[in-house]
Amino acid sequence: METPRIMIADDDKKTRDFVAAFLSYKGYQVYQAFDGQDALQKIEIHDVQMVITDIMMPRVNGLEFIKQLKSIRPEIVTIAYSAFANFEMTANLLKAGAFFYLEKPFNLEELETHVKRGLEHQALQSKSFRSRPCIKNRALLNNIIGESEKMLSLFEMVEKVATSDSTVLIQGESGTGKELVARAIHDLSNRSDKNFVALNCAAIPDELLESELFGHVKGSFTGAVATRIGRFEMADKGTLFLDEIGDMKANLQVKLLRVLQNRELEPVGSTRSKKVDVRIIAATHQNLDQMVVSKAFREDLYYRLSVIPIMLPPLRERESDIVLLLNSFLEKFNKSKQRKVMGFDKQVMEILTNYEWPGNVRELENLVERLVIIKGSGVLSIHDLPEKYRGGRAAVVCSEQMTLPEDGFCLNSAVEEFENRLILQALQKSGGNKKEAAELLNLKRTTLIEKLKKKKLVYGDSLITT
Ligand SMILES: Nc1ncnc2c1ncn2[C@@H]1O[C@H](COP(=O)(O)OP(=O)(O)OP(=O)(O)O)[C@@H](O)[C@H]1O
Ligand SMILES: [Mg+2]
Repeated sequence: METPRIMIADDDKKTRDFVAAFLSYKGYQVYQAFDGQDALQKIEIHDVQMVITDIMMPRVNGLEFIKQLKSIRPEIVTIAYSAFANFEMTANLLKAGAFFYLEKPFNLEELETHVKRGLEHQALQSKSFRSRPCIKNRALLNNIIGESEKMLSLFEMVEKVATSDSTVLIQGESGTGKELVARAIHDLSNRSDKNFVALNCAAIPDELLESELFGHVKGSFTGAVATRIGRFEMADKGTLFLDEIGDMKANLQVKLLRVLQNRELEPVGSTRSKKVDVRIIAATHQNLDQMVVSKAFREDLYYRLSVIPIMLPPLRERESDIVLLLNSFLEKFNKSKQRKVMGFDKQVMEILTNYEWPGNVRELENLVERLVIIKGSGVLSIHDLPEKYRGGRAAVVCSEQMTLPEDGFCLNSAVEEFENRLILQALQKSGGNKKEAAELLNLKRTTLIEKLKKKKLVYGDSLITT
């Protein structure tokens, strides 16, 4: 693997040499700059992935330096440190796009942890950057994002079926992208210059659905003050997307079947039939097979509709797409909401790739939109995640460390030990601050204090009792 390249900017030679020597010893290629301006010049020469910078420096200070750096080389990850920074300064640094802020004096091991995280983050960002051309090539597929095996074979299928006139039935959980796929099929078909008309069968009251589909003549029912064409006619020579087809009532299922067979319809209140040339794409999140068995859906209509069945896989079955979708939506919402959120840190990525996503891509898209708006800039960390997503951490921590000894062990004492270690780690991270430690553990402060008292845990030199 290529040696990572890091630049250190600090006017204090002693600190600079000290940090540089440590990182060189750890195997990094290190370059030095004596202030922000010097660093900006040297960035042009050395192609670094990361900059570690002091804040208080003559000429161009750390904050100004990071701002300028982000405008010319946004992909370079920055870590800032200072002995003097306050809350406002830290907030400004993160807003300017710094990946992490360290308070001086810091220990070198701590610095290395953040360097590793920053570089991983950088690699991830540039990976998603590299994969973008591939997505753009699929613009015709209506920006359906995905590179998992399952999605790639879906794209092939969509391309193949688009040019035929056969009826397509798209099934899949809610939020998996059924409507997107339906639109893509229309856009790739030779009907693309005609209408794509969508109708959600679940959203229209049963008594109005027939007229909505086939139209009606004036006076055919109360409220039919004028003759109106239905969605079928609106979609003539184009595509009609019948969403949530599983919700269609039995009497209408018969009428739809008749139209599919004869390619002609009768508007409500009319005795004259009209010819229509419409390609039908139907979709449902329900299990139509089962509905056929339980007689809730007509078998003959089911076979008519599912000439070409397409099954959209749930998001949890295509982990590699999760990362791609997260980064793509991040970019999209940064642009549309004018925000500058740099990315997800490693822990957040781990949590989100292990999450179940019951609401599939829709849920992921909504989460990223919310995170981008609230965060505004900087890197998303676990504290930014809504509570329900943080629950996944336990699984992450456990799965990495657990092995059951051959001859078994005492579960209670292992759980106790596990809990104690995590509590101590949280206290270490928060520098002994119990409120912060409790937040890290997703506990109430009082619950943490109770646990500490009960366990008589020792942190630093003192027994923690309050
Ligand atoms: N592969 C994907 N790439 C990009 N965006 C996607 C993808 N899949 C879904 N989306 C987005 O997720 C949201 C939900 O997609 P869509 O409406 O097509 O889902 P659906 O399967 O029809 O859901 P429902 O059953 O709830 O109607 C939309 O905003 C859509 O743009
Ligand atoms: Mg839908």
